Amino acid sequence: MRVTMIGAGYVGLVSGACFADFGHVVTCVDKDPAKIAALEKGHIPIFEPGLADIVASNVQAGRLFFATELTEAVRSADVVFIAVGTPSRRGDGHADLTYVHQAAREIAAAIEGYTVIVTKSTVPVGTGDAVEAIIREVRPDADFAVVSNPEFLREGAAIADFKRPDRIVVGTEDERAGEVMRALYRPLYLNQSPLIITNRRTAELIKYAANAFLATKITFINEIADLCERVGANVQEVARGIGLDNRIGPKFLHAGPGYGGSCFPKDTLALVKIAQDADSPVRIVETVSAVNEVRKRAMGRKVIAACGGDVAGKTVAVLGLTFKPNTDDMREAPSIAIIRTLQDAGATVRAYDPEGVEQAKTVLDGVIYAENVYAAIDGADALVIITEWDAFRALDLDRVKQLLREPVVVDLRNIYPPQDLLGRGFTYVSVGRPQALYED
Ligand SMILES: NC(=O)c1ccc[n+]([C@@H]2O[C@H](COP(=O)([O-])OP(=O)(O)OC[C@H]3O[C@@H](n4cnc5c(N)ncnc54)[C@H](O)[C@@H]3O)[C@@H](O)[C@H]2O)c1
Repeated sequence: MRVTMIGAGYVGLVSGACFADFGHVVTCVDKDPAKIAALEKGHIPIFEPGLADIVASNVQAGRLFFATELTEAVRSADVVFIAVGTPSRRGDGHADLTYVHQAAREIAAAIEGYTVIVTKSTVPVGTGDAVEAIIREVRPDADFAVVSNPEFLREGAAIADFKRPDRIVVGTEDERAGEVMRALYRPLYLNQSPLIITNRRTAELIKYAANAFLATKITFINEIADLCERVGANVQEVARGIGLDNRIGPKFLHAGPGYGGSCFPKDTLALVKIAQDADSPVRIVETVSAVNEVRKRAMGRKVIAACGGDVAGKTVAVLGLTFKPNTDDMREAPSIAIIRTLQDAGATVRAYDPEGVEQAKTVLDGVIYAENVYAAIDGADALVIITEWDAFRALDLDRVKQLLREPVVVDLRNIYPPQDLLGRGFTYVSVGRPQALYED
């Protein structure tokens, strides 16, 4: 099949490359000329493990192409995906559909013959209807169907997630379009990924409901972690104790500094707005979003407390800036609010991240970037671990202690056993594991 992907970001590029790997002929179109120029030279504009290889092999095989202009690619396509950004609209949290509507207009002008237009971007319920109306208005004569096919891949594990998804959700009531989507995804559900075909509005809502549920699970365990600190309980053991219950499940029960990233913050906010507009508020999600928002600066204050209540004139070493490991994505990363809180209190922040520095420079001011872990720690008054990159999981603790001016470690991902650090004479603060539990 001939597939055109509008938007070559995290979702468009990964999906496009994976569809090409299944044997489809794919063109990824992006209006950002620098992105397309890089891809044409064989450079991948984002960090995603395994993506460079799969892009290179499919370009080589003549199945993956790039373009800045969509007309040619859309005219010859059987399926056109919209995979452009849907950020929060400034001021009110609604999903900003400017890019989606713009893409729909451009696609409308170019389609020829029966074309299935698929919204892969995360979009509010009813967006499929709006896309259909736009295309119909521009091209009353066109033969097309608009389908919803939300994407569930996780950055950092995107290729495996795309190739072996827990499920594929397709929203359409158009039988012909349903057949096209089945054919497109056949290589996947032969691999036993369930294909859920439902109506378009249901598919659109499934995506928001999934992200809001996951965000709720994270926020729940974060609040339980805070309670653990007050009452002398261990959140990791609470999480294990509840997670072994099959009705609850062990995933997304890791206490930490609050969720961030390009999806959960904006998607929870957008669901809140969708629900309010439908006169059916989702108060749980409203609370989740509010609780998570204040948590990030609270984590900054936790660091200040670990430093004796004052960081003015001190240097704090930060390990990990991206919103999670194995990505370079800094969108809504908790590190941003934590670092600003420390800077507001007068600290100098020296940071190291394996992949995120280039993007961090675009959102953070006044941070000193170190070349490696130990250069970040050298002479600092405290060390804070914000993102659990593998490279931070087995630090040389003797060296860390030697390099730090004060042996203070704040581990916001609970990656170290408290006994290890306390036994070595560190002041060690983690999340939901109060120090009193480890004193004789
Ligand atoms: N990032 C994720 O992990 C993830 C996972 C699931 C779903 N999503 C959803 O997928 C969508 C895309 O997310 P992303 O992270 O890939 O965004 P992104 O910002 O990385 O990429 C979007 C790309 O679209 C391009 N673009 C915008 N308008 C265009 C147009 N008219 N023509 C051509 N290109 C255009 C931009 O230049 C950009 O490169 C969002 O709705 C997001 O919520 C993201």
